[in-house]
Amino acid sequence: MRIGVLTGGGDCPGLNAVIRAVVKTAIHQYNDEVVGIKDGFSGLIHNHTFALDLDKVSGIMPRGGTILGSSNRDNPFAFSQTVDGKRVEKDVSSVVVDNYNLNKLDCLIVIGGDGTLDIAHKLSAKGLKIIGIPKTIDNDLSATDTTFGHDTAIGTVMDALDKIHTTAESHHRVMVVEVMGRDAGWISIAAGIAGGGHIILIPEIPFEIGKIAETIYQRKARGKHFTVVVVAEGATPKGGDRTIKRIVEESSEKVRLGGVGEMVARELESITGLEARTTVLGHIQRGGSPSAFDRILATRYGASAVFHAHEGDYDHMVALRTPEIVAIPLEKALHQMKRVPLEGSHVVTARRVGISFGD
Ligand code: F6P
Repeated sequence: MRIGVLTGGGDCPGLNAVIRAVVKTAIHQYNDEVVGIKDGFSGLIHNHTFALDLDKVSGIMPRGGTILGSSNRDNPFAFSQTVDGKRVEKDVSSVVVDNYNLNKLDCLIVIGGDGTLDIAHKLSAKGLKIIGIPKTIDNDLSATDTTFGHDTAIGTVMDALDKIHTTAESHHRVMVVEVMGRDAGWISIAAGIAGGGHIILIPEIPFEIGKIAETIYQRKARGKHFTVVVVAEGATPKGGDRTIKRIVEESSEKVRLGGVGEMVARELESITGLEARTTVLGHIQRGGSPSAFDRILATRYGASAVFHAHEGDYDHMVALRTPEIVAIPLEKALHQMKRVPLEGSHVVTARRVGISFGD
């Protein structure tokens, strides 16, 4: 077979480990050829491809990012172009089909989140033979137990929280740490538990600023003059809205969140009179060397995707259904957001050890 592979959407640790596994499995097990497609679907729109051989993937396992490049702007079904000074969206999916054929591909492995896999599913309907691999640091896809990149992101936030603790304690401050995750609180709650956060705010549980202040007073009464608050970027005050940082029109996920951490810090400062500082961890969470867990999961996904390509399981994506990696139809996997369950083990455990959700 000639197998194309691309990475779409926001990057995350472990993408290179998947690419490596795809190439190694394809070449060692099946004597296939692999074609790397640059910068997500942009590479199939502009025909930017190259031969991916064993040499190209040698030594890339520990590297963050993706050697293929990625893009979360180039949707072939709504490709943004400027015509006469105006931004217009054009369907260029037939160009993608032409370039798939031009490259003599028998199958395309698409590594991406919900937006990227949605495009992959639509391209399947146009005749492309596609296998999806789910990725996102947010862990918000319900079709799979977990996505690679999430564990590494949690580790990054946990390290940051360990460092924030010492300076919070030295200065008797309230330290607010804003983390990613879009509309799911997985990064916030998991890293908050691992990093000993005292208050964790997640989109699934709207918060009241007065309740957060109460927790800070209770800690003070116990002689703890500092507090670490972990805030998911999608957290909302009761009856309020998400804090939107910018709208990216060309993206399939247009809304970019950000700013809720600073808002919480300012309000807490004015209510409690304590000094509050905000740290926004931002894209640090998307970088770095993948954890052992993510390397193993990424390798299992990559190897399994090539296996399913040879089985002819097209328009499917691989998923972790512990302990197995299975292939499920993309149609059933898409648009099923996984949010933190209110009665689930993470929330219950956090409450048991005295963590407040500001509710
Ligand atoms: O979905 C991954 C993610 O990192 C989110 O956690 C975050 O909200 C978003 O992507 C940031 O996107 P961008 O890289 O376009 O700023």
